[in-house]
Amino acid sequence: MRVIIPPIKSQGIKTKLVPWIQALVPDVSGRWIEPFIGTGVVAINSGFRRAILSDTNPHIIRFYQAVQERRITPSIVREYLEREGEILRKAGNKGYDHFTYIKDRFNREHDPLDFLFLSRAGFNGMIRFNRKGEWNIPFCQKPERFRRTYVTKIVNQVRDVSCLIQPEWRFLNKPFEEVIPIATEMDIIYCDPPYMGRYVDYYSGWTEDDEHHLFELLSTTKARFILSTWHHNDYRKNEMVQKYWRHFNIVTRDHFYHSGGKIENRRAIVEALVFNFSANIQKHNYGVEPKPKQLMLLEERVEYITQQLSRADVV
Ligand SMILES: C[S@@+](CC[C@H](N)C(=O)[O-])C[C@H]1O[C@@H](n2cnc3c(N)ncnc32)[C@H](O)[C@@H]1O
Repeated sequence: MRVIIPPIKSQGIKTKLVPWIQALVPDVSGRWIEPFIGTGVVAINSGFRRAILSDTNPHIIRFYQAVQERRITPSIVREYLEREGEILRKAGNKGYDHFTYIKDRFNREHDPLDFLFLSRAGFNGMIRFNRKGEWNIPFCQKPERFRRTYVTKIVNQVRDVSCLIQPEWRFLNKPFEEVIPIATEMDIIYCDPPYMGRYVDYYSGWTEDDEHHLFELLSTTKARFILSTWHHNDYRKNEMVQKYWRHFNIVTRDHFYHSGGKIENRRAIVEALVFNFSANIQKHNYGVEPKPKQLMLLEERVEYITQQLSRADVV
């Protein structure tokens, strides 16, 4: 499966898990409902015509609304990044002065193009906001960041998401408590909440009360749901799985993530998908990609996505 990569980056991005998640998605006639969309990578690859996509981070939602309404297009992004990238290259303090200029402008005006700039020129592709809700990730310290090839890569990602975002997708800036109750028995809900205690920022605080409330809402929904969470690592188990999620079906897989660029920072974690329907999928994948029946559906979706891409003429 070719996973379409979105232009927004973040530390919790599920790119590597998309085929596994998609292989589990049941055949439903309703909507894809995603209350914690983050970078949007799972939604973008869902292939659904109708969707409700939400996040408490208003900048993510504003960015995707602007793409959907064609206020942000691939050519607008190219023009913007070439211009700002050139100023960054020549700016004082090895580019830092211009990064700070864009950061201050973004904190005042909240322009989605400045959000894209910061997301791609910040340290390690992370998104974090301080207690005042201001951008809080330092400069990657590369004044040459927006070279031609890098700009083209981002422009192509904007083109891909422009093609895949459907007119019937609704983007909401609401907490999950207001989104999950919208779902009916025809819909599928995919939840990827913040993991407790990790990457906490202004928009991503997550407590056990939140987990409990999510459990209550997912326990009573008429829709089918899939929840992403972590199961265990070398040091400990996720207690929330035992406490709440063991009441549902659970499949797991090995996953590696990097905190920082160095190989010694590579950490193993077992990821889990919790779901409330029956599915023909391996309990644990041992690093092997799943080949369940649902792959048929997945292939149909991929075909759909490919058709959309070849039909679209948005560059
Ligand atoms: C782990 S990230 C989702 C990552 C996403 N699946 C991806 O691959 O990019 C969790 C997201 O939940 C959002 N969030 C945090 N608390 C929330 C809440 N109470 N309601 C809705 N969204 C929330 C955060 O802003 C963040 O974007």
